[in-house]
Amino acid sequence: MASPKSEPPSEPDGIAECSKKARLLFAPDLLFLVWLPVAAITFFHYMTPHEQHWVHDILRRVYYLPIVIAAIWSGKRGGLIVAVVVTLAYLPHAFLASHHYDPARELEKSLEIVLYLLVGAVAGHLSDLECRRRQDLLRALTEQRRLTTQLVRAGRLAALGEVVAGIAHEIKNPLHALRGTAEIVDSLVPKDAEERRMWELHKSEIHRLETVSERFLSFARPAAVTHATLDLRDVAQRLTDLVGAQCRQKGIELTADIPEEAIETPGDLDQLAQVALNIALNAIRAVEPKAGRIHVAVTRRTKDDRTMAVLRIENDGPAIAEEEREHLFDPFHTGGEGTGLGLSISSRIAEQHGGFIEVENGGLGVIFTVMLPVSGTKGT
Ligand SMILES: Nc1ncnc2c1ncn2[C@@H]1O[C@H](COP(=O)(O)OP(=O)(O)OP(=O)(O)O)[C@@H](O)[C@H]1O
Ligand SMILES: [Mg+2]
Repeated sequence: MASPKSEPPSEPDGIAECSKKARLLFAPDLLFLVWLPVAAITFFHYMTPHEQHWVHDILRRVYYLPIVIAAIWSGKRGGLIVAVVVTLAYLPHAFLASHHYDPARELEKSLEIVLYLLVGAVAGHLSDLECRRRQDLLRALTEQRRLTTQLVRAGRLAALGEVVAGIAHEIKNPLHALRGTAEIVDSLVPKDAEERRMWELHKSEIHRLETVSERFLSFARPAAVTHATLDLRDVAQRLTDLVGAQCRQKGIELTADIPEEAIETPGDLDQLAQVALNIALNAIRAVEPKAGRIHVAVTRRTKDDRTMAVLRIENDGPAIAEEEREHLFDPFHTGGEGTGLGLSISSRIAEQHGGFIEVENGGLGVIFTVMLPVSGTKGT
């Protein structure tokens, strides 16, 4: 699954049904509603004695029913095909038969045939128009549903952001005081004292709380994005600089595939580096220490007729289950001990840049792809 933004809205059934409609002419329903009636009308028409004018008149006009039904069901093509079949069936009876032939005047019968074709074409054309209009409406409805979902989600995130900002604010001040006193007390606890271990634990918990409150704040109060043209290769370079030492320390192989030419995107280097770092830190946690592999690549890719600047981060950790992938970008969703905000913040930053993040199982194991607009292309 991709980030919520990247998911195309699913096409309503009606659209698919509508575009397939021309192929429905030989569907079982139409056998009973169109083809059997045409055969029956033709049969009775041919069997009706020449003198029974009124029966011939009725039967000749009853042909309109299957023609109109076919036009409604299968559009102009269907209406015309049935009108032609009716014409071919009726023609010998109207003009050639020596026995039981239709007693109406020649002009009347010729006009009737013209009308069969006209009614088939016009009714089918109207049905096609109506179908296209319904398609447009369904598309608009799908788009409206997508926007409503996005709005509800944005509203929920904003409300959540307020709460989180309040909590982070309340944590930050006492934390600041704790950090200050810890720095003073630190020199008072001798290095070889038994209490030192407990004291180090105390300090690392303060540090953890600081990291969490910073995460909370960057979720609640996203920084404004500056849109300077930047080279995505610099983001990859910054990433490898930032996590290189950590990977070496853990025995994880970090490789990068950086192209010769610049891949430019309008954006904020610090924020995009943050996105890359969040994904890479997850990857470091997901792979096996001393054996894991992480690969970073920068490329261009064409998606939906748009050329995108792509930053791909793969790792050879275990595949992510489908149910897990669906919630990966939800705030506070975590499978470990983190805050569960890294990917949620990252996907929002990518969206602010006009891009999105996709995640799939593949490549080395799991692939995170950050797709961003290329500088100078439409929409940037
Ligand atoms: N490369 C990956 N392989 C396997 N699971 C992953 C990978 N990346 C993310 N995940 C799963 O997605 C969850 C959410 O990731 P996210 O970065 O949003 O939060 P976190 O890492 O738990 O916390 P935080 O980043 O805020 O410290 C992770 O806890 C992990 O379970
Ligand atoms: Mg994370």
